Parts: sequence; structure tokens; C-alpha cells
Amino acid sequence: MPTVRPERETPAQGATAGKGALSKRRNIQKAKLMDFTSTVIIPLLIGSVGIFGLFGLLQRMRMRAYLQDAVVVITGATSGLGKECAKAFHIAGSKLVLCGRNSERLQDLVRELSAMTNHPKNVHKPYTVVFDLADTNTVLNAAEEILKHLGHVDILINNAGISYRGTILDTGVDVDKKVMETNYFGPVAFTKALLPSMIKRRQGHIVAISSVQGKISIPFRSAYAASKHATQAFFDCLRAEVEQFEIDVTVVSPGYIQTNLSLNAITADGSQYGVMDKNTLEGQTASEVAQVVLYAVGQKKKEVLVAGLMPSLAVYLRTLVPKLFFTFMASRARKERKAKAS
Ligand SMILES: NC(=O)c1ccc[n+]([C@@H]2O[C@H](COP(=O)([O-])OP(=O)(O)OC[C@H]3O[C@@H](n4cnc5c(N)ncnc54)[C@H](OP(=O)(O)O)[C@@H]3O)[C@@H](O)[C@H]2O)c1
Repeated sequence: MPTVRPERETPAQGATAGKGALSKRRNIQKAKLMDFTSTVIIPLLIGSVGIFGLFGLLQRMRMRAYLQDAVVVITGATSGLGKECAKAFHIAGSKLVLCGRNSERLQDLVRELSAMTNHPKNVHKPYTVVFDLADTNTVLNAAEEILKHLGHVDILINNAGISYRGTILDTGVDVDKKVMETNYFGPVAFTKALLPSMIKRRQGHIVAISSVQGKISIPFRSAYAASKHATQAFFDCLRAEVEQFEIDVTVVSPGYIQTNLSLNAITADGSQYGVMDKNTLEGQTASEVAQVVLYAVGQKKKEVLVAGLMPSLAVYLRTLVPKLFFTFMASRARKERKAKAS
């Protein structure tokens, strides 16, 4: 009987069969992966996007409810960031109390707000109060007038401020005091005057517009940086002390904003600086920063740093590698002094 010999695979045939099995295995793996993707990953992604979307929606709804009809007091409303905050909170439906030193400019703003059309139905005509933060008596009278007229304050935004340019050596203490009165003692007196009524209601929110210079000190800005460091410290203490009364405190620390701050800054002899600094001109727009303030308030953030990469890095450098920060600042002082001399 003839024996049937099993046919031997040639090496080429073996390789083809091996490749076939491999590609079959790969196909099965691919199918499994696609199956896993379509049954697990895609529903998980859709679910996550849905949850985030819902979370965002809830946050926006809560924020809208918080700001609508809230009595919001804004100091320094006649210019720059204060003016843009006024617009943002007006659109959000808040009852505004606009504060400034110049009655005419406040009335101009009221007219500007009334002419705005991009807002929901429930907007309120703002109330205006004229006072100088550097004069404690007028500050206390203003707080009394606000409480008399509106009954209470929900949100106080301490925004008004002045800046300073000069060397410590040439600057009289009267200039240091003026900057401290406007940026620190004024807002402190105003806050203290409104605080008891907030505590009584166990409701209120106090906002301080500080600065990156409340966290780091740059040469030739001594009075300003000192006033903002003091602001940061005071409102940090306040936050801790009034938490028990359910009062929120938010400190916003912007970098450079395109406003008139440097134009209005005072110099070593108390005169107006009157120069639009390059950094200020290249800063964020006031309306962008006002939106950050609106969200920070709406979400009851404790503090927000609104700055570009370099100022933010400088804040971390000051904390983590102070020696390097001091070297940079000394070099900056030398460069600025040289540029002024030339
Ligand atoms: N611009 C920036 O680069 C920058 C950066 C960080 C932080 N900030 C802070 O942002 C806040 C707003 O400043 P801004 O940039 O919008 O400057 P701005 O355009 O010069 O506005 C300053 C506002 O403060 C008011 N003000 C000044 N002194 C006052 C006083 N003694 N009593 C009452 N109100 C007074 C001004 O009112 P009048 O019309 O009466 O003068 C004006 O409405 C300030 O606290 C500032 O330190 C600004």
C-alpha cells in the first residue's frame, strides 16, 4: 500500500501561513479595540463632556442668580478697570452703586450704562456716590449714605487706586501717606463701615483689587507696592475672621492692565507722572480683567492672579528662589537708573 506522506511546507509557504495567522490575530485585536472604544471609551467621553457641561451650566446659573439684583458697590468706577467692572456687573443685572471723586464722570457712566443694549431685561439704574478715599470722614459718610439709600450691600468691590513712580531717597513721606490713604486706609475704612451690616445679615462679599505688586516689589514703586502688600495682608486676615459670618473675601491681583493708572500715578514730589508706560499699554484690556473679576466674584474665589507668564513666574521666584529674585530686581533697578540718566 502506498504510504501518504504529509506534504512538507516550503519555508515560503510557512512564512505566508505565519503572516496570515499574525494578520488574523491583529484583525481580532483591532476589532476588540474598536469594540472597547465604541462600548467603553466613547460613552465615557460623552458622559464626561456631559457632566462637565452640566457642571458649567449649573455654575453659570448659580452665578447669574448670585449677581442678579445684588447690591454691588464699586469704587473708582469713573475709569479703567472700575468702569469695565461697572459694565460687566450692570449686564449681570446687579444694582450698582458707582463711587468716584468726579460727579460729572459718574453721571456720564450712568448714561453710558443706560444706553447699553446687550443685557437681559432686569437691569437697574445705578446710584452714584461722590467721595475721596483719602478723606476718612467722606468715606464714612458715603458708607452711611449707601446703607440709608439701599438698605444693605451684597458685594463691595474696593477697586479705586493710584500708582506711584519714584526713588525712595527722593520721595517725601507725605507722598507715601497719600498712596497709603487711597490704596489702603480708604478701602479699609470703607470696608469697616459696611462690614457690621453684612455681619448682621450674615451675608456679603468683599473684593479687593490688589496687584501682582501686592506679592512682589519692583524698584521705583515702593509706596504702591507697600500699599498693595498691605491690602493683601489685610484682606487675607479679614477672610479668615469673617468666614464664621458667611462673608466671602476675594483678592484679585492683576498684572498690567491698559488703563490710565500710570498716567495718573504720582511722583516723588507729589506731581502727576503723566506717562503711559509701555508695560501698561501692552497689558490686558480692562474689559478682559473685569470679566475675570465678575467670574471670581460669581464663583466666590478666594484669590485670583490675573497676570501673564513673566509676572506669574516672578511671584513664584520670589517665594521659591528669593535670592535670584532679588538679583533680578537689583539689575532691573540699575538698568532703569541708567536709562533715565542717558
Ligand atoms: N492698570 C494696571 O496696570 C493695574 C495693575 C494691577 C492693579 N491695578 C489696580 O486696579 C485698580 C483700578 O485702577 P485702574 O488701572 O483702572 O486705574 P485708573 O484708570 O487710573 O482708575 C483709578 C480709579 O480710582 C479712582 N481714584 C483714585 N484716587 C481716588 C481717591 N482718592 N478717592 C476715590 N477714588 C479714587 C479714580 O477716580 P477719579 O476719576 O476720581 O480719579 C479712578 O476711577 C487700582 O486699584 C489699581 O491699583 C491696576
